[in-house]
Parts: sequence; C-alpha cells; structure tokens
Amino acid sequence: MKPNLSRIQSDMGQINGYNASPGAGITRISFSEEDREARDYLMAEINRLGLSVKIDGAGNIRALYPGETDLPTVMIGSHIDTVYQGGEYDGLAGTICALEVIRALAENNRSLKRGVELIIFSEEEGSNFGITMFGSSILTGQYDVQALKEIYNSKGQSAYDVMEQFGFPARTIGQDLLGSDEVYAMMELHIEQAGVLEYEGKQVGIVENIAGLTVLKIRIEGQANHAGATPMHLRRDPMVAAASLILELENEVKPNAMKPNAMGTTVATVGKIHCTPNISNVIPSAVEIYIDLRDVEEDGIYRVIEFVNHKIREMETRLGVNNEPLYRISMEQVAQTKPVKLSNQVLGVLERNAVKSGMGYRKMNSGAVHDAAIVASKTQVGMIFIPSKEGRSHCAEEYSRPEDILAGCQLLLDSVVDLASQD
Ligand code: HGY
Ligand code: MN
Ligand code: MN
Repeated sequence: MKPNLSRIQSDMGQINGYNASPGAGITRISFSEEDREARDYLMAEINRLGLSVKIDGAGNIRALYPGETDLPTVMIGSHIDTVYQGGEYDGLAGTICALEVIRALAENNRSLKRGVELIIFSEEEGSNFGITMFGSSILTGQYDVQALKEIYNSKGQSAYDVMEQFGFPARTIGQDLLGSDEVYAMMELHIEQAGVLEYEGKQVGIVENIAGLTVLKIRIEGQANHAGATPMHLRRDPMVAAASLILELENEVKPNAMKPNAMGTTVATVGKIHCTPNISNVIPSAVEIYIDLRDVEEDGIYRVIEFVNHKIREMETRLGVNNEPLYRISMEQVAQTKPVKLSNQVLGVLERNAVKSGMGYRKMNSGAVHDAAIVASKTQVGMIFIPSKEGRSHCAEEYSRPEDILAGCQLLLDSVVDLASQD
C-alpha cells in the first residue's frame, strides 16, 4: 500500500491558499476565516470518505476509519493553524499525511483490527490565545469552561466566546474529553524544524523525547519621561533593564567552554515584548518580555528560572539618584509543559518499518513542542520527523522536499497497519 504524493501536495496547496498574509508566509490563525475555509475543505474530504466525526467544544476534529473491533484506536494527526507569517508545512504536513493514510486504507479496502482515527487539533500554535497546544490541552481536560471564559486574545475576546461564535459548543468542554481507554497508540508526523536530518542526509527522524516548555512573563516598571529633556542619570528606563536581562539570559544559557549550559540542551528565547507607551520620544513606563524556555531535561529549565529570579532580585536593588529603587519587577509563569519521553513500543514499530523500507533514519529529540506531548498523558505516543530545508521553520522559508514527505507518510502508513493489527 502506498500513499499518493500528488493528493498530499494538492491538499496542502489548496489549504495553504487559505492564508491571511499572501506573499509573506502563511498566516492561518485558529478560529479565523482562513481556519474556517481549511476546516470546510477537510470536512468535505472526511465526509467523502464516510468517516464518523466528533468535534469537541474547542474545535478539535476526530474522524474515525472503523476497525473490525471496538478495541482502542490508533490515532494519527497534527494541527492546521500556523504562527503569524509562518511556513507551509508546520502541522499541515502531518495532518494531510494522516488523512492520506486513511485514504490509502480506504481505497485498498483494508480493514484492520483497530480503528484508525484522524485527529486535527485546534490552536496548537497559540497564535490566537497565546497558549501553545491549547486545543489538545482542552481535549485532555486541562481547561474547563470557566477557564476558557477567563482566557483572552489580543482583541479582548474570551476563548469561550470565540469558540462559541465560531460554532463550537465550548459550553460542553469537559463532557467529551479524550479518555485513556479510547486510544491504543497515537502518532504525529511533523517537520523537524531544525537541521539535523538534512545535515546527516537522513530521510526521517524517530523522536525519543519532546522538550518541555516554560514561558515566563517579566514586567519591568520604570518611570515614563521625556526622551529628549531627561538627563541620562535621572532616568528609570525599563527598556534598559529588559535589554540587560535579555543579554545576561543569553550569556547564561549559551553553552561555552567556561560554563557548559545547564544540560547542554537548554534554549531560551525572547520573541515577544510589550513596551508602554511604545512611542519613540517617551522613556517607557513599563516593558514586558516573554521568556520561552525549553529543554528535554526539566532540571535545565528550572536552573534558568532560578537564574532569572536571582537577576530580577538583584535588579530591584538598583537605586536611583534619590535612593529610590529604579525598577519594580514582577515575574509570572504563563505556560508550562513537562518534557515527555515517547513510547519505546511505538518507537520500536517505527524503527522496524524504517529499517524494512531502507529509509535513512535517526533517533532524536524534539526542541519544538507538539500536541503528541499532550496526548502522551493518555496513551503511548510516537513521532516521525521529516527534514526541514536549512533547519528553517516558523517563517516563509520553511520547506520540506516532496520525497521526504512521501517517505514520512509511508512510514506512518506502515506503522499504523502494524499497530492497528496488534491485539
Ligand atoms: O512552539 C512550538 O514549539 C510549536 O511550534 N508550537
Ligand atoms: Mn507544529
Ligand atoms: Mn509551530
């Protein structure tokens, strides 16, 4: 049985046409018009295949290709939402390859002991509500209705209202959660979003660990004042404090000969900053930075949190000319997921099939987080990576070769058949 590459490419081309930033990467934010068009396109294909569908209050789509028994299913899928001006492959490649696996089974009239379930997660990127893997976290019971009513996007809309207005029954959140007894195994195919596979000339990656994530929001308050008239020594400029914190953070986390970083696998990013009032002739009154910390070892993340805490305490002791503290600083943890070790059993199935088909592969970790990490709390999980050109992702330059997408999809199909045939 073989996947059909031109069908995969045609679906991806069509769905990437639903894009709010043509000419500047792909922007398909959850619960946007572009998201609706992509969902409609996929639902038409799911209905054509005659799959039975369940859509929960957050818009996670579950479509079942029935098995010969009612044993727990094999679940495959990913997400279709993107970051702002992101790439064409992040999430979508895994979603369409999962759909293609079910199409290949259907057109070959292949029935398996266990059903095969396509899953399409909502809001994986967190581009709407700022919480990555939001849909899969809701599906696994981490947020209730009240929580959805207290989470807002940048337009001040609550997640509850946005989901309800989009047509999903957010009021039923908690009633149709993913149960531990429903799914025998889950697999997610995803682009690597780094350059290891390409560098080593390997066609697929078999993921052993998915990094954990902690996002810290640091708010630094200073004193707004005139950018021209205020002498430098009389300033309480929070942007200067933020800049020094960011530089010290990089120096702390970047491994170097003198100080190998926490676990050698820790990464820290400040990709989001809010400046108030954000006008060039005003010394800011306040600056907020978001520190995105990742590591496959939890200890690596905790060590950096400790470092940031220590730096903040030290910065708060800095005094101005009249012996007043220069800054008031607060730190809030706005997101946290634990590192996840993936299932050896699923990893073994993937490895055997990669060897059988003669695919160049390697086992590896994922620095990006994925919905598979959330589903791992409910069942055994595996991930397949395909190479990203020059390791680029979350940008218009993101690219994966057709032959690698096909190889990854073949590995997913063969492994689904194996797992869905197991007792
Ligand atoms: O942030 C991530 O790792 C994922 O792309 N949402
Ligand atoms: Mn992704
Ligand atoms: Mn992503």
